[in-house]
Amino acid sequence: MKPVTEILSREHQVVLSRLTELERALDTYSEETLRDTLRFFDESVTLHRRKEEEVLFPALSAHFPPDTGPVACMLAEHQDEKRHLDELRQALEKGDRVKVIVHGQLIVNHLRQHISKEDQVLFPMAERLLGHDQRDRISSGFKSIGNCCPEASYG
Ligand SMILES: [Fe+2]
Repeated sequence: MKPVTEILSREHQVVLSRLTELERALDTYSEETLRDTLRFFDESVTLHRRKEEEVLFPALSAHFPPDTGPVACMLAEHQDEKRHLDELRQALEKGDRVKVIVHGQLIVNHLRQHISKEDQVLFPMAERLLGHDQRDRISSGFKSIGNCCPEASYG
């Protein structure tokens, strides 16, 4: 059976390379790269998150307790991610360099850990739990949201 989460992991690789760029942009305080990174998160990562929140997580939710299981945990981490991104955006608008660096670094750390949990724990679990019918529905759900990271080589 073809792994249905592979596409999300490939998108994660693109996000991870953007995080390395973000870290460099924080070191040199490159406003242009910081704004470009925020644009990438607004456009591409929003679509990636939708694939997880609207397609994969609902398919998995029957297998886990709604408030304490791994899906609830990943959803809460998505909320934290959006909060950090808002803080970074506001700090950048105000030209508050200290806050830009603090929130930028929080995003880098938070997302590296979050992606590792999804890739190493949640996705392997999903591959064991999902049945044929669910996989077909997930694949078409992903397709209807679309390719969000052209660098991810969707094949
Ligand atoms: Fe993800």
